[in-house]
Amino acid sequence: MKRNIPLVVGNWKLNPQTLKEAIVLATGVAKYQKKAEAPYVAIAPSFLHLNEVKKKLGTTTVQLGAQDISTEPMGAFTGEVSGMQLRDSGVEFVIIGHSERRAMGETDDMVAVKVAHALKNKLTPIVCIGERTRDAQGSFFSFVESQIRSLTKEIKAADMKKVVIAYEPIWAIGTGKTATAEDVKEMQLFIYSALSKIYDRKTADSIRLLYGGSVKPQNAAELQAQGGMNGFLVGGASLKAVDFCEIIKLSYKK
Ligand code: PGA
Repeated sequence: MKRNIPLVVGNWKLNPQTLKEAIVLATGVAKYQKKAEAPYVAIAPSFLHLNEVKKKLGTTTVQLGAQDISTEPMGAFTGEVSGMQLRDSGVEFVIIGHSERRAMGETDDMVAVKVAHALKNKLTPIVCIGERTRDAQGSFFSFVESQIRSLTKEIKAADMKKVVIAYEPIWAIGTGKTATAEDVKEMQLFIYSALSKIYDRKTADSIRLLYGGSVKPQNAAELQAQGGMNGFLVGGASLKAVDFCEIIKLSYKK
């Protein structure tokens, strides 16, 4: 996957409520993608809808993502879904450490184990990081750095290259408050320098960075042009095929 070509991922969260609606949404994205020149698009429906959505995506290049993965590969872990099960359902990406999961108790250590589990099963992890709030002293930078550093417990540089990082400031998720393109650019530079320091320059240069947090058709072009990221992780706006496709179109606009 070439890093300079944007990747746009739709995180459907706990939506939609029926398989029928999920199929309509997936079909809308697949139809658009067939005619668009946008090679890297993925959608992450609920676990329950993965298989049927996969069938609908057919021969398009829209890829399938999951919203979580177990820390465990198999066994007595009620309610969990393993990397092998995801892979077997045609999943390529898995969102890990989303702030909504961290709010339910997922720790940095669990995130690192999940990333290793995903990689073992040839899934591309999309690791979400980002601060809850911003302070004038800039301590949110060290918070983001510590989230990256915690990955080193499980992930070596050679594997880190296969990881996608999504910077999602929590204050911008689902709130309508988007980080400005300057904020995003500043964080992009910071994350790359942190990755160079924690891993090494070559590893940092090969990691794809996404922005997420109230990305909409109205702000996608500016964020893409000035934010310096390699694509988006889209929540709310990915639930309407027209909006999601418009974001894809704007991401690819030269
Ligand atoms: P949002 O969600 O686009 O609705 O802010 C983004 C996300 O949570 O990944």
